[in-house]
Amino acid sequence: MSKPFLEVDNLAKVFADGQGGELTVFDEVSFALNKGEFVCIIGHSGCGKSTILNVLAGLDEASKGNVIMNGKEVSGPSLERGVVFQNYSLLPWMTALKNIMFGVRARWPGWSREQVRTHSERYLTMVGLDKAMHRKPSQLSGGMRQRVSIARAFATQPELLLLDEPFGALDALTRGVIQDELVKIWSETQQTVFMITHDVDEAILLSDRIFLMSNGPHARIAESVKVNINRPRSRATIFQDPAYHRVRDYLVDFLVNRSGTATPDTQGKPRVVDPTLLPPVSPQRPAEASACEESNTESAARAVNA
Ligand SMILES: Nc1ncnc2c1ncn2[C@@H]1O[C@H](COP(=O)(O)OP(=O)(O)O)[C@@H](O)[C@H]1O
Ligand SMILES: [Mg+2]
Repeated sequence: MSKPFLEVDNLAKVFADGQGGELTVFDEVSFALNKGEFVCIIGHSGCGKSTILNVLAGLDEASKGNVIMNGKEVSGPSLERGVVFQNYSLLPWMTALKNIMFGVRARWPGWSREQVRTHSERYLTMVGLDKAMHRKPSQLSGGMRQRVSIARAFATQPELLLLDEPFGALDALTRGVIQDELVKIWSETQQTVFMITHDVDEAILLSDRIFLMSNGPHARIAESVKVNINRPRSRATIFQDPAYHRVRDYLVDFLVNRSGTATPDTQGKPRVVDPTLLPPVSPQRPAEASACEESNTESAARAVNA
């Protein structure tokens, strides 16, 4: 079998706990991504998702283990890995357009100024910012800034796109439009996407597989859930697919009932699960919850990371 595009082997991250001790956020994290896959990762706040993503980006170092992309060890950032952070990170002294052009020029140093500009404008228009492209970040709203950083990552077409809750700051309508653009770009390119989200519906709509992370400390990627739903998928009709409900119930049940105890397989690899081949799970409400309270499962589905 050919080697996967990205291999993560036995990764761990230990931080000082501020009291003279150590905190092992996650350990024995191993997984692989195939070229062109779209994988989302879900887990409760603080389990280490952003840290894993930063290690994949080469922006943070693991305490143990390694990351191999295209047969080479990841050590330090590269234009082959584009990142959209949870908190947008733009150069404050440059306009939106110049922020994008800066990345595009670095990616394709041989391009003419005109090529760089046309390409950059195209991606800003795609995220609905054609009228605001000459504004600096301080003159843009939070959602607009996030769209600039999304446009910058898309425009540089990295082999691996790393997205850390990229749509959290966007209103529902804009989020839908940009999710659709992401799927379009991804399906037209050979890009591999690794995305953190706290929204199970978003994960089901977008992913080929969803990684489920157990709670920290010593968090692990316990399961890899197959999203066995044909593409193209539409936000408006996906709810009619019985497979959608099977996957959703499975994810919510994990988050509500199993994230504290779930473990990977004996080799440390995520257990492969296809919820459409399992008996249905119906997420249990805690017995003490009263009938008029918002269901635990629903609030977990909406905001595991809130
Ligand atoms: N620089 C740091 N020093 C100490 N602890 C940190 C540092 N960065 C993150 N952590 C801790 O590591 C854990 C995982 O953080 P993070 O990767 O941001 O989680 P997530 O993205 O899943 O919410 C948290 O408990 C956080 O407090
Ligand atoms: Mg995070």
